[in-house]
Amino acid sequence: MSAENYKGLAQEYLFENYARYPLTLMRGEGVYVWDDNGKKYLDFLSGIACLPLGYNHKAVVDAVVQQAHQVMHTSNLYYSPPSIKLAEWLVRHGGLDKVFLCNSGTEANEAAFKLARKYQHRLGRHEQMKILSAEHSFHGRTLGALAATAKKSIQEGFGPMPEGFIHASWDDTAAFCELIEADVAAVILEPIQGEGGIFMAPAEFLQAVRARCDAVGALLIFDEIQCGVGRLGSLFAYEHFDVRPDIITMAKGIANGLPLGVVCASVQVAKALQPGDHGTTFGGNPVSCSAALATLENIVAHLDHVRAISSILFQHLRALQSEFPESISEVRGAGLMIGMSLNIDAAKVLEACQQRGLLLNVTAGNVLRFLPPYIITEAHVAEMINILRAVFNN
Ligand SMILES: Cc1ncc(COP(=O)(O)O)c(C=O)c1O
Repeated sequence: MSAENYKGLAQEYLFENYARYPLTLMRGEGVYVWDDNGKKYLDFLSGIACLPLGYNHKAVVDAVVQQAHQVMHTSNLYYSPPSIKLAEWLVRHGGLDKVFLCNSGTEANEAAFKLARKYQHRLGRHEQMKILSAEHSFHGRTLGALAATAKKSIQEGFGPMPEGFIHASWDDTAAFCELIEADVAAVILEPIQGEGGIFMAPAEFLQAVRARCDAVGALLIFDEIQCGVGRLGSLFAYEHFDVRPDIITMAKGIANGLPLGVVCASVQVAKALQPGDHGTTFGGNPVSCSAALATLENIVAHLDHVRAISSILFQHLRALQSEFPESISEVRGAGLMIGMSLNIDAAKVLEACQQRGLLLNVTAGNVLRFLPPYIITEAHVAEMINILRAVFNN
């Protein structure tokens, strides 16, 4: 079947809520993926940060196959070893004290909001229910997460938004902190904003927010869905900033391509949710949890490499910026989460990259986004830079 046929069938049978690129991807291996015409692509986006170990990583595939043969679903009516082992692993490696498992990033954030409100409620602070987020943030598409996402264009037509969500710019730390009053249940922040254009929160800002939250009894949630799980060269993004949140949400790359959302919380906070307060049918699915365990073990073994290859990648991208100063205005980010602001049409650059066999994407208007798998080598970096150079030269 040709790419055109898949496109036609998709238009006929799938909702039209995605603006897809004209590519049909069939199989992947490592850092490469092939389309239905057999064309090979170097993937520096890795499924929008969902494949930290690249395509078909053997340890993850083996874990999935083995678990699928054993049991694929049990429900949360029973104990299930993969979810318990995963929770133990996360806690032992810095994931606070307790873990809740769900299926996606937006669900993890919803659980975090409910947890924060219930925590305040149990302390008798019934007025302490607002959720404060930062401008240009992205926290997901379900109604609560959408309300926390301060982006009018994606809220339009879905109103009314749930009550109690407020937003402020993090450019003015004092003004942001002034909003953290006794009516705020929690502040949610992406330590590095992904969809917003790869903007890193200043460490002093995070420290000031932490202190202000402590002063009024508000909780601090880090949305590490895109920037966590090793992407910054530390397992958790909070380690990179040296600010410890009360709640961490993760998803995307944690099971190297299988759906899994995670909420980590301190023990005092976690106990706010008692039986019947929250749940989800597939949460802690044994196959996803087995994939996550295999993924995390391998990610830990790659953290030194992430830091080393990140500095090589930054060097090359900044050298490219010096070569093409009219086209590239800034290269920013950390670890393997990098944005390149362009003065030229990023969509056209992206299209030219795809034609030359390189996958990236564009976010926040004109920012070319790089979220490569952690297994990239210097040779992959050189290959990617050669393609970009050819595109900018044209
Ligand atoms: C920082 C952040 N939070 C939340 C989400 C939502 O995750 P999901 O698409 O798995 O619901 C995303 C997805 O891009 C994200 O980048």
